[in-house]
This record gives sequence, structure tokens and C-alpha cells, in this order.
Amino acid sequence: MSESAKLSFKGQDYEFPVITGTENESAIDIAKLRASSGLITLDPGYKNTGATTSAITFLDGEEGILRYRGYRIEDLAEKSTFLEVSYLLIYGELPSQAEYENFSKEITHHTLVHEDIKKILEGFPSNAHPMGVLSSMICALTAFYPESLNPNRSEEEVNLSIIRLIAKMPTFATWAYKNEMGHPVNYPDNSLDYCSNFLKMMFALPAEKFDVDPVVASALDKLLILHADHEQNCSTSTVRIVGSSQASIYASISAGINALWGPLHGGANQSVIEMLEAIKADGGDAKKYLDKAKDKNDPFRLMGFGHRVYKNFDPRAKIIKKAADDVLEKLGVNDPILDIAKELEQAALSDQYFIDRQLYPNVDFYSGIIYRALGIPTDMFTVMFALGRLPGWIAQWKEMRENGEPIGRPRQIYTGANERDYVSMNRR
Ligand code: MLT
Repeated sequence: MSESAKLSFKGQDYEFPVITGTENESAIDIAKLRASSGLITLDPGYKNTGATTSAITFLDGEEGILRYRGYRIEDLAEKSTFLEVSYLLIYGELPSQAEYENFSKEITHHTLVHEDIKKILEGFPSNAHPMGVLSSMICALTAFYPESLNPNRSEEEVNLSIIRLIAKMPTFATWAYKNEMGHPVNYPDNSLDYCSNFLKMMFALPAEKFDVDPVVASALDKLLILHADHEQNCSTSTVRIVGSSQASIYASISAGINALWGPLHGGANQSVIEMLEAIKADGGDAKKYLDKAKDKNDPFRLMGFGHRVYKNFDPRAKIIKKAADDVLEKLGVNDPILDIAKELEQAALSDQYFIDRQLYPNVDFYSGIIYRALGIPTDMFTVMFALGRLPGWIAQWKEMRENGEPIGRPRQIYTGANERDYVSMNRR
């Protein structure tokens, strides 16, 4: 029997259907709320509001569960690869050997970008933040593939846009970095796997031989898997709502990149390292800053701790913490910043103040540490997040399009001036 929810307002009773998902989450379907009662709901930040139904990612903040298409993040991080997880998220099932080989071949075939993109890149000053360069180059794909402006084209043509995005994102990401460094860009090496190709484009210099460290490539692959999707987070919701206007997939992904850029979202891993560097510059006394974090009159906030959705721990943080320890040990990294991070981590995990407030290290705390150990510069951390999140954005955009979802257009409660007459300038 289907459930329902009742609402009483001004002596009138209203009843709305309740829908329940495959993991027994329930929502009141308020599609007829305004028409039947004149009421709307108000929920700044949408913490209590579902924007859609989705079959892609399930997370349970209380239990610390994260699954992509039903598969546990722990299993995927241990046993899968980023490209295989990308296939899973976008097409809904783990690929067969033949499907995976075809997918991988398709992507390899599209890693090159039009030479004219370099002219766009050269227009950016070296101090341009790589996220702005990345979102611009992704949006520029609409100019090089104008057929993509119509997202209602055939499934094959939409899929080609998807392949192009996954294939070219590493090229664009590394080119944004090379522009910042004043180094010549590198072209893809299609003999390498996805992460090794990224690392070579990122760090190779014309004057020197470059060999990809398999430890670094493996750690990067795991990091990208952990960031691949996270249901209706800020940037994914941005991709869906921009896509709901039937803007091209490139414009939708570019919008998602810009939403991820903010320090409250994807920029958090960059803010973690900047916080650690500030603590080091101020003498490296982690306890001083832990006390500042506890002082409600002190504006200092610990970055990389706690999460809006996970109430006890971020399952990705558990996996990434182990990867960080492994990478630092294998690479023999000895960095005072990382020592400060360890002190903060130990305190947050043992100090009742942080435990009571669920301020535990999250995925951004550890991802910044690993990226730093891998030699990735701080302002490229959010670009790395975008590289990982790309298949999730694509999967969510594809699902929204295939479900024929309407354009996103939230309502509001007006609190401004009531009707009033225009006053001419000489009477103000
Ligand atoms: C994410 O992975 O997108 C972040 O944890 C933020 C979120 O889910 O709200």
C-alpha cells in the first residue's frame, strides 16, 4: 500500500503521496502542493529537499555508506580502475572485457584537442587560476563541436560528446597547469593508461626524460575513483539544472566546474593545505590552532573536517587516509606540513570537542595531503577534484536528459517592498 503524508493549513487538510526508494528513503511528493493549497516549501540550501530521483549513487550520511550503482566504494577503490568506474557510472553496469576495451580505445582516440584551443589558452595570463582556464576550455568545445549545442541529437552523437569530455579533460587540465608554469604544453601519449598519460602531460618537460612512477599513477587512479560521484552535491546539482534548460553538455559541465571551484565545495582541499601552510608559517603549533578552532570568538575554522552529509565519518576519507599513508611511505616523503596534518588529525579523532561536533578529517583533508605528496601544486587540487568528478557529472546529466526532467525553476517567498509609485528624481 502506498504511503501518504497529511498537511493541515488554515483548517484545510491536504494529503500528498509519499514515494520510497530502493534503499527505503522516503519523500513527500509535493508536485501538487501549490496548486492545491497555495503553499510552497522553503528550504535554503535544499538540506531537506530532494531535487530528483536517481539510480546512480547512494549515500547514507549516518552509516557512512557510499555506493556507485550499488557497488561499495571500498570495493571499487580496491578492485576497479577510474575508467571502469566511469563506465559504470555513465552506462549503469560494469563493462565486459570487450566493452571496456572499446570504451578505453574510444577515449584514447579522442585525447588530442584542436590546435586553435592553444590560442584560447595563450590568452590567459600565467596567474590565471587553472579552474577558470579549465571551465573556459571545456565550454569552448561548443565552438569546435557546434553540433553539441543540441543535446537532443542521436544517442551516438551524445555519446561522442561524452567520450570527448573524458578524453580531453586530462589534456585541458594539464595545459592549464603548463600555462601557469610558463612551460610548453605536452601532447597526450596514447600508449599510456589514463592516469599515467595525465601525469606525463602534467610533469614532463622537453629537456628531460620523464618516467611515470607507478605508485603515483595508482594513487591518482584511486583518488579519482573516490571523487567520481557524490549524488546531488552543489556542482552536480548545477550540472543538472544547467542541463535542464537543454544547454549543451559542454556548457553544463563547464558550469559544474565553476560551482566546484568554491572553497566550500571542491576548493576545500586547496584551503586545507593553505591552512596547514599558515600554521607552519606561524610556528607550526597545531595545538594553538586546535584551541583557536574551539574558541567561538575566534574566526579560525579547521578546513577539511566534518561534512554536510556524513555525520560520523566520510567513507572516502577512511580509504584515502590509508592511501596517503602508503604513498607517503613509498615515496619517502618528509614534509613538515604533513606532520602538522597528522597532529590535527590525531587531535580531531581523540578530542571530545571535535568528536561531539563530528569534526573528523574528511576526504578533502587527506586528498590535499596526497596531491601535495604527488607533487601536484595547491591551486591544481580542485582541478584534480573536477577530473575525478567528471564521470559523475556526465552520468547525472545523462540521467536527467533520459528521464525527460523539466527545466529547473525553484519558487521563492518575496520579502521586498510592497507596491509603490515611481518617484521622479527631483522629488527624492
Ligand atoms: C562531494 O563529494 O561533492 C563533497 O563531499 C560535497 C558534497 O557531497 O556535498
